[in-house]
Amino acid sequence: MQLIKTISVGRRLVLKGLAASVMAPLAAPAFAAESLPAQPTGSATAVATDKSYWAAVKGLYAVTPEIVNFENGYWGIMAEPVRREFIRQSDMVNYQNTYYARLRAGADFEAVRTKVAEAVGAALEEIALTRGATEALQLLIDGYNRLKPGDAVLYVDLDYDSMQYAMNALKARRGVDVVKFDVPEPATRQTVLDAYARAIEANPKTRLLLLTHVSHRTGFVMPVAEIARMAKAKGIDTIVDAAHSWGQIDFRVSELEADFVGFNLHKWIGAPLGVGFLYIRKDRLAAIDRDMGDEDFPDSDIRSRVHTGTVNFATVLTVPTALALHQEIGAAAKQARLRHLRDYWVSRVRGFRDIEILTPDEAGSYGAITSFRLAGKTSKADNEAIVAKLRDSYRIMTVRRAGVARGQCIRVTPALFTDEADLDRLVEALAVVTGTKTG
Ligand SMILES: Cc1ncc(COP(=O)(O)O)c(C=O)c1O
Repeated sequence: MQLIKTISVGRRLVLKGLAASVMAPLAAPAFAAESLPAQPTGSATAVATDKSYWAAVKGLYAVTPEIVNFENGYWGIMAEPVRREFIRQSDMVNYQNTYYARLRAGADFEAVRTKVAEAVGAALEEIALTRGATEALQLLIDGYNRLKPGDAVLYVDLDYDSMQYAMNALKARRGVDVVKFDVPEPATRQTVLDAYARAIEANPKTRLLLLTHVSHRTGFVMPVAEIARMAKAKGIDTIVDAAHSWGQIDFRVSELEADFVGFNLHKWIGAPLGVGFLYIRKDRLAAIDRDMGDEDFPDSDIRSRVHTGTVNFATVLTVPTALALHQEIGAAAKQARLRHLRDYWVSRVRGFRDIEILTPDEAGSYGAITSFRLAGKTSKADNEAIVAKLRDSYRIMTVRRAGVARGQCIRVTPALFTDEADLDRLVEALAVVTGTKTG
């Protein structure tokens, strides 16, 4: 792995300070020997295509050469400075033992919660840390206490499986009707808005809507604010699944116009696995029950809505370093780069034989992730075979995605360590796999 040695002293001091603010009983500072060159400037395209800058970013990641990995939607590996900080914090916790946990961890966790709240644009009292988006969203869906028997709740085929299960469970738990509808294909901003409007109109008893910001099945970016606004006008609350969006897409939580949102930090923020948070708008806390009757915090404290038990301290303590790197690269630059990588391969394969691209080339409707399918190849076996061919014949890692009403598909997710040469390899492979070109 190549590490970037050019550093700016000022930046290094800032990052050192960040690490020190957590707790640094071990001597080494978090970002001791590397940082990034100055950020590129200019248009989003100029920023996204600055070769030397993105080569420097790529240099922050240690990645196996065994495979070109386009399955970065599962989670986002840590950049080396973050990984080292995680190891350092793990060592510290193990060394300091309960002396650390009993005396210092509480204040340090509050410092982390504060940094997360600032970064996402929320007030401290609107944020509680969780072990990921699943925990956050299950607590919001199960804890939402405004439903009465006979009400309806709504979700779509593109929503994440475990959130669909949690919505389905509301039938027994709250006595509601559970309504599911399919997002139209091809999805565009307008067809999706129309579909939600029709579903809300057709189900006037709806009181709760689950909405996924970035679909893990296709990569489609939902017009969340418009849908949440439409729902609110009919007295419907929206719970947003932002597991895939923050860090991939540049936004602050208020822009979603939703009162309840679940996030993780281990996908596009690049924190260690096992950390996320939930957001409940300040004046809506009463709509969510305490987690299993928590008595550690008063009812007015959002932390009573999450009662996890003992967590991996080092994971949480590494979040500020991951956020510092996210902010150093910049949310807008990350979004521009990831969209550029997606556009690079999609624009080259769109004309390939029988290929269907499941996200539109429409500003704001995609980020890094885009899925494709070959016409008529909708089964599990069809798509498994293509994933296996890409993996075994071309050393390219992708993943099959089920659950899209019109049929299974294959998801392609580049990362910040992806470059154009990696994408050329994907395009070449797809040319042959689609039969556009003979191998
Ligand atoms: C849309 C969506 N929601 C929720 C989750 C669950 O996230 P976590 O791993 O943080 O529990 C995922 C994970 O892939 C996801 O893609």
